[in-house]
Amino acid sequence: MNVIKIIADRFAKALAAIGVEPEPYLGLIRPSQDPKFGDFQANFAMPLGKKLGKAPRDVAADVVANFEYEDLLETPDIAGPGFINLRVKTTRLAELVQAEACDERLGVEKVANPRKIVLDYSAPNVAKPLHVGHIRSTMIGNSLSRILRFLGNDVVSDNHLGDWGTQFGMIFYGYRNFLDRKAYEESPVEELARLYRLTRQLVDYFAAKNDVDKLTKDVEFAQNALNAQKKVCIDAKEQGAPKDVLKKANKELDRLAKALDSVREKFEGAKSKIDAVENNPELVRLAEGRETIGHDVLTETSKLHHGDEQNRALWNEIIPLCQEEVDHIYERLDVKFDVALGESFYNDRLGPLVERLKDEGIARETEGAVGVFFPDQDAPMLIQKSDGAYLYATTDLATLEYRRDTYHPDAILYVVDFRQSHHFEQLFEAAKFLGMGNVELYHIKFGTVLGDDGKPFKTRAGDAVELKGLLDEAEARAYAIVEGNNSDRPAEERFSEEEMRETARRVGIGALVYADLSQNRDSDYVFSFDKMLAMNGNTATYMQYAYARVRSIFAKGAVDVATLRKEYADGTRTLTLEMPEERALAFELVGFQAALESVVRDYRPNFLTAYLYELANKYSSFFEKCPVLRASDENVRANRLFLCDLTARTIALGLKLLGIQTVERM
Ligand code: ARG
Repeated sequence: MNVIKIIADRFAKALAAIGVEPEPYLGLIRPSQDPKFGDFQANFAMPLGKKLGKAPRDVAADVVANFEYEDLLETPDIAGPGFINLRVKTTRLAELVQAEACDERLGVEKVANPRKIVLDYSAPNVAKPLHVGHIRSTMIGNSLSRILRFLGNDVVSDNHLGDWGTQFGMIFYGYRNFLDRKAYEESPVEELARLYRLTRQLVDYFAAKNDVDKLTKDVEFAQNALNAQKKVCIDAKEQGAPKDVLKKANKELDRLAKALDSVREKFEGAKSKIDAVENNPELVRLAEGRETIGHDVLTETSKLHHGDEQNRALWNEIIPLCQEEVDHIYERLDVKFDVALGESFYNDRLGPLVERLKDEGIARETEGAVGVFFPDQDAPMLIQKSDGAYLYATTDLATLEYRRDTYHPDAILYVVDFRQSHHFEQLFEAAKFLGMGNVELYHIKFGTVLGDDGKPFKTRAGDAVELKGLLDEAEARAYAIVEGNNSDRPAEERFSEEEMRETARRVGIGALVYADLSQNRDSDYVFSFDKMLAMNGNTATYMQYAYARVRSIFAKGAVDVATLRKEYADGTRTLTLEMPEERALAFELVGFQAALESVVRDYRPNFLTAYLYELANKYSSFFEKCPVLRASDENVRANRLFLCDLTARTIALGLKLLGIQTVERM
């Protein structure tokens, strides 16, 4: 049940009745900011008055005269210049809450027109360990998958694993040149990760050495340009140049200062890559004679793609190991996929695809490479390099076609870092040529996870922070909290070791996941264990605690939940809402469906976390003001227990849809 939607539908009728096309105005019906103005406010009378050339208050009165509200709302109140304030009848609200609680789906209806949706998320490059950024794609995608499904859509989640990219060239090179056989046998993925990092470091080292002279010159050049401009600014000032001239000169100065910063940063980057190797005798030794490593690594990848037997064999050896490693992480995160067709799956389709696109005139050659060209853009999307290699974009085009033909979807959604925006813009443009006109193609983008210093979260050595270590630490910190609570408990109530571990897992991982999902996905955010595990605030811990607290009330009061629910379901009991805090909690509870619908409108799980946070806050105020077990009246006690129960169920279901588990005790 979505109350605001019901109100909007009825306003649509009222607007039509006075001869107004309703659509543009329905978005102006919103929850009230302040309860003293009621529950909802409709603000369309002002723009409408302007359009009709009437006083907004009169327009409001006309609309209200045609508005059907009696069964649901108190008499609407027209306030100020023409705001229409609406308040749900408290008796009706109680009925709605009661009905919601008696429904397995907590009153959430399925969508009228379910869609077939392919959801592409997680998709790590498997030959490298997952890093902190992977939590974003994985968990945003996982929660959207759960919510879209819950609302009745047919979702195919597809993990488009990066199992075919250039990283394999690095690993193969490392494997052939630097393998520590014993370490590989003991812990293969760790050794592969080391080989990857080492090879990559050497590739970067030689690239940096190649660039450093040019970068030194660039810095010099940028420094000189800046100095010259400084002088221009000083002279202009001394000569009393007009304001706009000064302004322009200063603007140019800013631009040059930024340009200098940026080349300097590149220079420093190159320098530190060089130093990292040259200050380490072991690395110096390994680098010796490997000037061509950058090229050699590309050759390894190319050999794999072109069917070289040895490289295929090595790939077949490595992939299951990597798969096992990512699967283990998915297990800890409670994430599943319907299919996992990695990039390698599409390999055989790439050649024919490029040929076909060329034949159809969609792609053509450009400087030895092949690209798809777009009407009003200079840059094509490259689908084959001049050395014959296919690109990320080629695979994505093949994947689009495969998905179109296999699933006949209404939508294909990609949960991928915002840095790939350009790639997806081009891909979606190109898709138009493939005849995918009606399919919604959407890039669900997200920002970067930052460290304390406001820069991308990296280890001291400058590598991305590995996800596995973060999961371990989240669990360890949660364990410390759970253990602390445990020692405060009377002996007979203490957790077993196993219970502590499982609770710590749910709390620790839940905290990490929630911290991610509660962000506006477009923004960057600063990673902080302390914040995410806080007992208060917009955290999973707070939500899990609210849930556990309800459970403990039922335990303490020896309340039989099943009986309580049954009494409200069969009408033995009727819920009434007396206290304002009870009403406020009830009102929040009926907003669950609207919250879920707002998530899927623009694929934003943070609308659900915001809802849950608000709900937990309303519950807190309720709990403070309205004694439950010690309520003076048996009926009031039952009503309050009923509200507690529905709150706990809503939190549990909400968390589940985010991919987070609850705990009975903490
Ligand atoms: N493997 C890619 C990466 O790690 C992400 C793939 C996203 N999905 C896609 N169909 N392009 O950057």
